[in-house]
Amino acid sequence: MQSFDTGQTFVVGRIQDLRPGDCVSYELPDGNELALYNVDGEFYASENSCPHRGAPLTEGVLCGHIVECGLHGWQFDVRTGECLTVPDRIKTYRVTIEDQLVVIHLTADDTDKKSGF
Ligand code: FES
Repeated sequence: MQSFDTGQTFVVGRIQDLRPGDCVSYELPDGNELALYNVDGEFYASENSCPHRGAPLTEGVLCGHIVECGLHGWQFDVRTGECLTVPDRIKTYRVTIEDQLVVIHLTADDTDKKSGF
């Protein structure tokens, strides 16, 4: 089967650099920011801007699979992007581990947009 991957991949660090329960931001070459989460050894990524007022989610609190925005407390499931507080969501990205490196995969849709991924 052929695969047509027109998106982009980014190596964002080594797995040992992000401890379980931590989250960090990663700036893409276009200036957009992602949030990377380590949930008990599983890595997840999302946009880093809260849809409420734009606070960086990496400045919130990660508790299990839930990140809580530090500004007004909206909660998001980092696995799906679903907001648990209001009917909204954040965009999530596929993450793989390759040779101990954390790799984020953006689709063509993600990279074609000028703002908000
Ligand atoms: S900016 Fe995130 S809840 Fe208000």
